[in-house]
Amino acid sequence: ARRVRLRHLQELKERGEKWAMLTSYDTYTAAIFDDAGIPALLVGDSAGNNVYGHDSTLAITVDELIPLARAVSRSASRALVIADLPFGSYQASPEQALRTATRFMKEAGVHAVKLEGGVEIADHVDLLSRSGIPVMAHIGFTPQKEHALSGYRVQGRGQDRADELVQSARTLERAGAFAVVLEMVPGEVGAAVTQALTIPTVGIGAGNGCDAQVLVWQDMAGLRSGRLPRFVKQYADLHSTLHAAARAYAADVAAGTFPDREHTF
Ligand code: KIV
Ligand code: NA
Repeated sequence: ARRVRLRHLQELKERGEKWAMLTSYDTYTAAIFDDAGIPALLVGDSAGNNVYGHDSTLAITVDELIPLARAVSRSASRALVIADLPFGSYQASPEQALRTATRFMKEAGVHAVKLEGGVEIADHVDLLSRSGIPVMAHIGFTPQKEHALSGYRVQGRGQDRADELVQSARTLERAGAFAVVLEMVPGEVGAAVTQALTIPTVGIGAGNGCDAQVLVWQDMAGLRSGRLPRFVKQYADLHSTLHAAARAYAADVAAGTFPDREHTF
């Protein structure tokens, strides 16, 4: 099948067809989600939590995320592959953003990058876009600002804050962003931003009015156990499946029933 391009995502918005994005950080999930028809895969800095075991996205480095992004772009033949720029790798200046994004394009083979922030990164988005690097913006709750925002909290509550988000989104669209992620905002705000833009919005905890949705794959597939955010829907229980498989394997080995003759040369 042919590669998903920016214009395809734009056409989906124009036709009013919704689509799903998932994170991916490795070859198997990239190939499975690609084959399942997921049009865009995000190599998120959520790999900090979901691959490297940190308790936030702040710690992950460019050097840690690039190899994961390379695995995903190698393994997805159709999906558009987007990588997050890690905390501290782009905020200083548009030029810093360009240097980091260029590494992701050249070394990891991704097709686009994602940056968190509103008007304060409009110049960054503008330089990247003019340099041939497609940019997905990310507003609302932005995990890299967890501490500045006093934790994981819904953003854009109240008319003033909602208007601010619409203005930020419009500014990022004008700066050249091809899509905007909206995280943890009231459903009406997700819908209002979506209607204000000609580019697609991708919601996570932003209601049903967005053009697309994104989830972290380990949340969506239930690999992660424990309390999940309210906006997650779990479509499988991989945690239980793997836990049971590991116990069954260990029990077979302990009982001497694996390996059997069929597994033996
Ligand atoms: O890093 C990530 O997984 C993300 C999305 C969930 C939007 O930024
Ligand atoms: Na992210």
